[in-house]
Amino acid sequence: MTALLAVRDLTVTHRRDGDEVAALKDISLDIAVGERLAVIGESGSGKSTLALAIAGLLPASARIDGRIDWSLPSPPSWGVKERQPKFVPLGGRDIGFVFQDPSASLDPVMPVGKQIAEVAHTHLGLNWPQAYAKAKTLLERVRLPDPDGALRAFPHQLSGGQKQRIAIAAAIAAGPKLLIADEATSALDTIVQAEIVTLIRQLVAEDGMTLLFISHDIALAAALAERIAVFRHGGLVEIGAARQIVSGPRHAYTRSLLDAHLGLDAIPLSRQAGTSA
Ligand SMILES: Nc1ncnc2c1ncn2[C@@H]1O[C@H](COP(=O)(O)OP(=O)(O)O)[C@@H](O)[C@H]1O
Ligand SMILES: [Mg+2]
Repeated sequence: MTALLAVRDLTVTHRRDGDEVAALKDISLDIAVGERLAVIGESGSGKSTLALAIAGLLPASARIDGRIDWSLPSPPSWGVKERQPKFVPLGGRDIGFVFQDPSASLDPVMPVGKQIAEVAHTHLGLNWPQAYAKAKTLLERVRLPDPDGALRAFPHQLSGGQKQRIAIAAAIAAGPKLLIADEATSALDTIVQAEIVTLIRQLVAEDGMTLLFISHDIALAAALAERIAVFRHGGLVEIGAARQIVSGPRHAYTRSLLDAHLGLDAIPLSRQAGTSA
């Protein structure tokens, strides 16, 4: 098993108004090339801090101790960041990043086709006609109805699920090795959420990407990932095969996540299945 990246003794402390918050405490884990790893835990457990640390997107005010070692020829770098300072970069050749809120990463005054094409233009060196052709192919791959119309659409003309499909298209436009999806389906309703999870699984398989899927939802994590890491209060509670985490969790906290999920979903799930049309 070749590691794409190795996180070693990573401790991240955020500073806000003179207060210090230990968002990650002494985390070590590997992500293997081509694997699908989910990180789960309740709000504030440090999931996003880990994702941002891996992507090199933590705010300058954060104190970072420990290391992240990549098995890439050169450390990951972003190109779009400098040119689009208001919006967080979405995609590069090493990492594609999908956030919970696509509005935070899509530029509201730029047609979405251009935003996808820009990733291909910047990171793959395609000329603009080639980059737009690539963007159209990507819109087909993420199953946007009417890809030609969608190329020219602005974010506000699209639904939440469609915007997230655009964000995914931009994230994978430069063929990243690692796709990070941080609560990428959490703001969507249940049916759209399932569609986006299916889409992510297909794209990851087709492109041979490594996936870091971040969610508070253990069932979604188990549906998508081969391994699950459970975080709590900035610490790694346990990590193991998804099947083992779901069927034989070693830690009481993981069991409580499972129990909470089963308790909530036992009845509504079957009813949704009957009313989804
Ligand atoms: N930029 C920041 N400045 C100050 N505190 C932060 C910042 N980002 C996250 N935190 C704090 O760090 C902890 C972990 O946050 P986060 O990584 O966002 O958790 P999660 O994604 O699991 O909800 C929380 O207590 C949160 O309030
Ligand atoms: Mg988060």
